[in-house]
Amino acid sequence: MFTIDFEPVGRRGPCKPDQSLLESARELNVDLVSICGGTGTCGHCKVQIIAGRVTKRTLEEEGELSARELEQGFRLACQVYPLSDVKVHVPPESLTAPQRTQVEGLEVDVTPEPPVHAVDVTLTTPTLDSATPDDANLLSAVAQASSLHPSATDFHLQQTLSPRLRELNWSVSAAIRGEEVIAVAAPGTKWVGLAVDIGTTKIAAYLVEMFTGKTLAAKGLMNPQISYGEDLVTRIVAASKTPADSAKLQGLLVEALNQLASDLCAETGLDVETIVEAVVVGNTAIHHLFLGLPVRQLGFAPYVPATCAPVEIKAHQIGLKLAPGAYLYMLPNVAGYVGADHVAMLLATRTADFDKTTLAIDIGTNTEICLNHKGQMTSTSCASGPAFEGAHIKFGMRAAPGAIEHMRLENDRLEIQTIGAEAPVGVCGSGLLDVVAQLRLNGLLDRSGRMMEHPRIHKGTVAEFILAERPGQDPVTISQKDVRELQLAKGAIRAGIQALVAAVGLGEEDIEQVIIAGAFGTFIDVGSAVMIGMLPNLPLERFSQVGNAAGTGARLALISMSQRAKAAEIAARDGYIELARVPNFQRKFAEAMYL
Ligand code: FES
Repeated sequence: MFTIDFEPVGRRGPCKPDQSLLESARELNVDLVSICGGTGTCGHCKVQIIAGRVTKRTLEEEGELSARELEQGFRLACQVYPLSDVKVHVPPESLTAPQRTQVEGLEVDVTPEPPVHAVDVTLTTPTLDSATPDDANLLSAVAQASSLHPSATDFHLQQTLSPRLRELNWSVSAAIRGEEVIAVAAPGTKWVGLAVDIGTTKIAAYLVEMFTGKTLAAKGLMNPQISYGEDLVTRIVAASKTPADSAKLQGLLVEALNQLASDLCAETGLDVETIVEAVVVGNTAIHHLFLGLPVRQLGFAPYVPATCAPVEIKAHQIGLKLAPGAYLYMLPNVAGYVGADHVAMLLATRTADFDKTTLAIDIGTNTEICLNHKGQMTSTSCASGPAFEGAHIKFGMRAAPGAIEHMRLENDRLEIQTIGAEAPVGVCGSGLLDVVAQLRLNGLLDRSGRMMEHPRIHKGTVAEFILAERPGQDPVTISQKDVRELQLAKGAIRAGIQALVAAVGLGEEDIEQVIIAGAFGTFIDVGSAVMIGMLPNLPLERFSQVGNAAGTGARLALISMSQRAKAAEIAARDGYIELARVPNFQRKFAEAMYL
């Protein structure tokens, strides 16, 4: 057993000789980016060996790391095994946190019709003449003080009810859901709910007052499953190995949600036991992983979900630590690759209600698109890949400090903007879009995406455009290969839009409004996305960027039963098109890759 010391994060701990540094990092909660799940092909788990002996370089490392990086002792953590105690430096771009996580979205604007009601009651103090059992005492006090007639007490609540009633001197606020009392606390308690959007990369959580709909606090976190692979297929494979692996991936999400609930409560001075309801949305694979449902069948055609129906269970059944009898409600899915987060986005953006022909799009590793034309809703999902999250891009990274997020090139004058105005360390998705658009605009890329001659373009084995020089380090560049990766991603999205529009007998020019939702979509320059042909060439005023609409949809469903019914109606109404079955889709996809 050796000791591995990860700096500057300051985590150290034991590592077996047959454990890679990536595995050791996972055990020590050092969140290394591991887009490929540890196969040595993404090049993102880069660390620098400061001291100690390790195994020899692998071919994968020689392919992924530059000569200078190899010389400076950089290695891929997934490929390295210790031969002694080792001290490792983790550069910021290899860490999944801190990252920009997005919680802003549309306002919640509905009249609350919550599933939970509350009433302040005073129970009869038991005497020798009247020793009514505590649960019956509570039920009768509620029935007397309100029009509610619960007939049962949640079993988890019963386990602590007797001391709790005595502590509170027989005066309590009771939270009731349907026929059941699910929590008690001091009179006047502010009962709250938790709405969560679990994205493939990021999690956004909101603490909401159940009876007013007011959002009290919001917090974002990186999805901890990232260390098991950036894309869903890698995670599906990881979870399908053994029941223990599936439990591990589920546990990571449950733990993250418990952490978010406790942080949000700490921020607002509330107790987690006042959270009486949770609504969680995510794509179908995340939904299944979170609930511990089987995912193997989602990994290959015909991509069958275990369920698309709304799920309602006790939150504690999967390990969520909220009020004793709190419920977890999951919105319905539409298909294997169109999930509850898409339904929540459609709910929040009111896409189903517009008379105008509306395209709603949530851009990510998987991009979901919905077209509403005269009330006919049709959705599809395209595998746009993780390029926007920085995968397979030489200097790609997620939206973290030091990421180049915008770039302008005018008369050979180059301007870059980095997140947090920090020294550039890489390029995030919105930056990549801008760079390609600006290179095309300035004639440095031809229509096919080929790099032309220019003093800033170095033509080595692979042509590279120099974005930022860095003293003592390789410059941050965008390579010809990176441009190709972006073309694949944007081609998939545009071909998906075109196929959807064609399927309902329209042309792109018939789209009267485009709603762009999601964290990535919020930060992109729509002009750049149109310029490179990722989005249709429509007047810019037809586009709107609405932030995390899936999170807003989850908040709506949390506080309103009629919004839950509406979400179910949207999911039932939403027709799904499988792109693989669209005639000539591959040819259309290839055409959509042109800039
Ligand atoms: S190269 Fe190590 S995790 Fe991808």
